[in-house]
Amino acid sequence: MNTIRICLLSIVCGMLAATNLTAQAFKGLALTPPMGWNSWNTFRMDINEQLIRETADAMASSGMKDAGYTYVVIDDGWASGRDEEGYLVPDPERFPSGIKALADYVHSLGLKLGIYACAGTQTCGGKPGSRGYEYQDARTFARWEVDFVKYDWCHTGTQSAVDSYRTMSDAIRKAGRPMVFSICEWGKNEPWKWGEGIGHMWRTTGDIADSWDGTLSDGSQANGLGWTQILDMQVGLDKYAGPDHWNDPDMLIVGMGNLNPNEYRAHFTMWCMLAAPLMAGNDLRKMDRTTLGILTHKELLEINQDHMGIQAFKVVDEGDLEVWIKDLKGEDLAVCFLNRGDEDYSLTFDWEVIGLRVVYRIRDVWARKNTGNTRSFFEATVPARDVILLRLKK
Ligand code: GLA
Repeated sequence: MNTIRICLLSIVCGMLAATNLTAQAFKGLALTPPMGWNSWNTFRMDINEQLIRETADAMASSGMKDAGYTYVVIDDGWASGRDEEGYLVPDPERFPSGIKALADYVHSLGLKLGIYACAGTQTCGGKPGSRGYEYQDARTFARWEVDFVKYDWCHTGTQSAVDSYRTMSDAIRKAGRPMVFSICEWGKNEPWKWGEGIGHMWRTTGDIADSWDGTLSDGSQANGLGWTQILDMQVGLDKYAGPDHWNDPDMLIVGMGNLNPNEYRAHFTMWCMLAAPLMAGNDLRKMDRTTLGILTHKELLEINQDHMGIQAFKVVDEGDLEVWIKDLKGEDLAVCFLNRGDEDYSLTFDWEVIGLRVVYRIRDVWARKNTGNTRSFFEATVPARDVILLRLKK
C-alpha cells in the first residue's frame, strides 16, 4: 500500500514539476511590452539572411539595443517548403546558412530572434502553414533557438481561432524553449477575450499602412489601415492588457517615409501610451537621426515599459483633440494631448476633468522640461497632427 502511495505521489509530483517547467518557459517572457523589429512593413516577402544580419548589426550599434529593442523578427517569406519528413525548410537561396546560424549570430549580439508561421494551411504569402504540423514546427523553432513566434491567420478556413492558437501555444510549451507567442489573428475573433495565457500578445486589427488615416498624400487608399484608424479600434480594450498579455495594434511605421516627424512622433507616443509591443518596421540600416530619436526616446519608453502594464484610455474626445491617460507606477500619470487635425490646437485644460486629488509636478516629455504643476490650468498649443505628452509626478 505504502509503495503504491509513494509511486502515485512521485508520478503526481513529476507531472506537477513538468507542468511547472513548461509553465515557467512561457510565463514572465513579456512582463513589459516586447520591443524589437520586424521585416514585414518595409520588406514584405523580399527578405534574406544578409538583411536580417545587417538589421541585427544596426540594432546593436545604433542605440536601439541599449534603448531596449531586443527581438529581430523574420516575418513571412523565409520558408520554401517542407522536406520529406515534414520539417520546414528555409529558402535555400535567401537563407542558405539556415535559421540556426542566424539565431547564433543574433544571439552573439545580445539580441533575440523571432520567426513567423501561420495557423492555416499556407501563410498569407503562400508559404507552408503549420496546420497539422504544430508540434513539429514548434520543436523545429526550439531546436533553432528561436525566441519569439508570430503566428498568423491566413488560409484557416473554418478552423476555430481559440483552438488553433491554443494548439500552437501548447506545442510551444512542450517544445520546452522560452518563446514569446505573438497571436496575429487581426482581432477577428476578439482575441483579447481569450488570448491571455495562450499568447503574450495579440493583434487587435488588420494590417497597418504607412499612413495617418488610411489615405496617401495623393488621396489614394493606402494598402492597410492608417494608424489613427487603428487607434480608434483600441478604445475599450485597455482592460484586457497587462504583463504577459498585451493588445497589439500592429508594428510601427516610424521612419518609413510617408509621414512627417510630428506625425510619426504622435503615432509612436500613442503606441507607448497603449502599452503596445514596439516592433520597429523601418529599415534600421538607413535610419536618420530624427527617426532614431523618436524610437529611442528614453522617457517615452519608460512610459511604454512601465511595470504596472496599464494601457491608456481616452478621457476626452473633442473631435480633433483627444486626451488619453495612462496610470504609471508610483501613482505617476502620463497625459497625452493628441491633435488629429490639420490646424494647431490651443487648449486650456482643467485638471478637474481627470479628477486629480493631489497636486502633481508636470514634466513635458518631448520638450524634456519641467513645466510647473497641476495647481493651475494647463495651457498649450498642440501643433497640427502632433502630441503634447506630460508625465505627472507626485
Ligand atoms: C498578415 C499579417 C502581417 C504579415 C503578413 C505576412 O497580413 O497580419 O503582419 O505578417 O501577413 O504575409
